[in-house]
Amino acid sequence: MTLFEALTAARQRIDRLDARLLLQYATGCSHTDLLARPETPVSAPACAQFAEWVARRAAGEPLAYIVGEVEFRGRVFQVSPAVLIPRPETEVLIDLALEKLAGLANPKILDLGTGSGIVAISLALKCPRAAVVAVDLSPDAISVARNNAGRLGANVDFRQGDWFSPVAGEHFDLIVSNPPYVADGDPHLELDGLPFEPRLALTDGADGLACIRHIAGAAAAHLNPGGWLLFEHGYDQGAASRNLLTAAALKSPTTFPDLAGIDRVSGAYFQSGVIMTDVQQRIHATVTGSPVVLYMKGDASFPQCGFSSMAVQILKACGVKDFVTVNVLADAEIRNGVKEYANWPTIPQLYIKGQFVGGSDIMKEMYQAGELQKMLEGIAQV
Ligand SMILES: C[S@@+](CC[C@H](N)C(=O)[O-])C[C@H]1O[C@@H](n2cnc3c(N)ncnc32)[C@H](O)[C@@H]1O
Repeated sequence: MTLFEALTAARQRIDRLDARLLLQYATGCSHTDLLARPETPVSAPACAQFAEWVARRAAGEPLAYIVGEVEFRGRVFQVSPAVLIPRPETEVLIDLALEKLAGLANPKILDLGTGSGIVAISLALKCPRAAVVAVDLSPDAISVARNNAGRLGANVDFRQGDWFSPVAGEHFDLIVSNPPYVADGDPHLELDGLPFEPRLALTDGADGLACIRHIAGAAAAHLNPGGWLLFEHGYDQGAASRNLLTAAALKSPTTFPDLAGIDRVSGAYFQSGVIMTDVQQRIHATVTGSPVVLYMKGDASFPQCGFSSMAVQILKACGVKDFVTVNVLADAEIRNGVKEYANWPTIPQLYIKGQFVGGSDIMKEMYQAGELQKMLEGIAQV
């Protein structure tokens, strides 16, 4: 069989470009060879390899997994089914990260959910003076990323674990992440080769915001003053992401579009040195003094607004036996102070182990996703 015949047969079953690329990979010939010498015979082993690959591609397997590599920002990264195939839109995250790094002499960078390592490695190669740490829950992903860093000559400290767990007590000038943000059950998970990619990389198994909620909520504890958190998200998650950044008391929550004008990345920075007023100190003592504190209108047995009532019902539905409530209607200073404390404009407000969680809408969303129950695990239950 000649190159021309092999290509013609494959084009009946798969996309034209995919057919050409697979034939080049199988035979080692170039695009020019295909055009200039189409009559070249294909060896029997190359022919068999090509036929197998065409069949896999026709069955929907992404080309990157078949050939084991993909190009991103002009570099070739190896990929396996243990990692997400890099997407061009992630370049937006990297470009924004580079903007935030401009002018920093020896920045410390953290990449959460590194996958094949494209973000951490691209940043490390662009900023050789940076100290880059990259985390992933999947040991197989860490091994792919480590291999890519070695091949491409990038100095990255890879650590396996759950989000911030491997960097306990450490602080960074920039935290970047492309977390899983597709909601469980989203029909897209069954389309366009996604069934071949790791579920852990695609979906949080909940409402699509669970990982972002976790990362935004914990970022302040790991950012140096002035340090930015930037993360990629879905086209319709910009507003929710900014709300989560606000709830996490990070400053200037902003959403950045991709080249198509679609919301793609959100971020905010950490500002330290906040001097607490007396009222703020009282609020701080209250929220850190009990595991579950609800600032509300009225009290648990007699809520005086529908939102406060809903918040109480959700806590009870989570099985929390004892929670402290503070009636903001009884103290105007506290009512205003708590809004400032959390940088959140409405009541009720829920705090768990000293951390602001959100108002009744966020509580409801987290309850429906099972996230609130998880946060409350281990806290006095009925
Ligand atoms: C959307 S992929 C991003 C991969 C890569 N950064 C990229 O942009 O191509 C999300 C990554 O997060 C990782 N991940 C999922 N849950 C995690 C967790 N709890 N802790 C750390 N990493 C996690 C997945 O294994 C996956 O590699």
